Amino acid sequence: MSDAKSMPPIPLSDRWCWGSRQAISFLMEQGVDNPDILTLGAGLVDSESLPVEEVGQLIADICRDPVEGRAALQYGSTPGSPRLRTALLQHLAVLEGCSSAELGISAEQLLLTTGSQQLLSLVCEVLFNPGDIAFVAAPTYFVFLGTLAGVGARTIPIRSDEQGMVIDDLDRELARLAEAGELHRVKLIYLVSDFENPSGICLSAERRQQALVVARKWSCQQRILILEDAAYRELRYSGAAIPSIWGLDRDREYVILAQTFSKSFSPGLRVGYGVVPAGLAGPLADRKGNEDFGSAHFNQHLLARALESGVYTRHVAKVRRAYTIKRDALLAAADRYFSNIPGVSWVRPDGGLYVWMSLPREIPTSFESPLFKHATRAEQVMYVPGDLCYSGPLAERPRHQMRLSFGVLEPRLIDEAMKRLAKAVRRFA
Ligand SMILES: Cc1ncc(COP(=O)(O)O)c(C=O)c1O
Repeated sequence: MSDAKSMPPIPLSDRWCWGSRQAISFLMEQGVDNPDILTLGAGLVDSESLPVEEVGQLIADICRDPVEGRAALQYGSTPGSPRLRTALLQHLAVLEGCSSAELGISAEQLLLTTGSQQLLSLVCEVLFNPGDIAFVAAPTYFVFLGTLAGVGARTIPIRSDEQGMVIDDLDRELARLAEAGELHRVKLIYLVSDFENPSGICLSAERRQQALVVARKWSCQQRILILEDAAYRELRYSGAAIPSIWGLDRDREYVILAQTFSKSFSPGLRVGYGVVPAGLAGPLADRKGNEDFGSAHFNQHLLARALESGVYTRHVAKVRRAYTIKRDALLAAADRYFSNIPGVSWVRPDGGLYVWMSLPREIPTSFESPLFKHATRAEQVMYVPGDLCYSGPLAERPRHQMRLSFGVLEPRLIDEAMKRLAKAVRRFA
């Protein structure tokens, strides 16, 4: 038996190192392991409205027919069930407000993945060599920042305002890179078009069009793709829907559209999908083949049935009603407990799962801050520190913001959590 102390180290790769210490794991643990903490932090969805009965029925329907049951329990193909992909074309057509023929794509351009997170990851694997460049909004979805770091990408943040990423700034940054001879390193512009995680902001119609113009303009030697992450697209509670960037790209050449059933139906099923430019479907499927040669086939059958039968559409309507109440509860609690704390402001989102709150600059919110410690230990309430949602060196990131999720808690507890959080903030104000 060898002595553990003299054991040589395990030779982990650079890829491991780039992708290590993800905040998401810490946050998920906090939410799951500390049931007494009122969590405005965890990005879990509303438990009450999860489709338990509907899924039970769908499973029974699949298994009642031995032929379908066996097919669903068998391996599927790498890009995913043709039945679900066909149903998704219809669904996408409804979202885009056109017929499925007018979508101008075939089911082959649809890739089913393990949550949309796998699609985001596959896109990075397929496009990026270490040092290649991605543009992201500041702030943006922090898990994706980790995904980019995990492939050694160089991430350039672009300022956001109430209309989302400031595309004029993006254009200027691209001009600067062109001047420096680095345009060939630019691979991707990542945009969470609807209800950005964490800010709740939608990219305005004008900026969507502008983003497309800028991507085309600078695609001189090679295509600069837009990754449109529309994870929250179906969770709109007020205001009119804005056409997707993907829909504006008539030739379907510049935009990868990522969507998911996690927020609108169930994250436990882990079904997401991407609609990709023709030349990208093969490389993504090749890479996915290396990882799993297909996501959970049974769940794909289940979602195909949910879409075909109308169960999905009815459920989304129910989920929207539940979240409208929760969003309103959080905003009402913000008005009640925070409006008399000087220098505090927040975004009022039309959808999604998050309210983005800014404190006075002198009150840091990060994991190590006195506020975070006091909120989690003394007040038993948790939020996501805003600095996680920015790329770049820690010292240069804004540190006075927080993401408040109304996904997990019921309305009464949202109010209680906000009361506790305001008490914690007042201590440092
Ligand atoms: C903006 C955004 N994109 C993608 C995802 C990934 O979700 P999933 O893998 O469950 O589809 C999330 C999850 O929170 C998200 O907030």
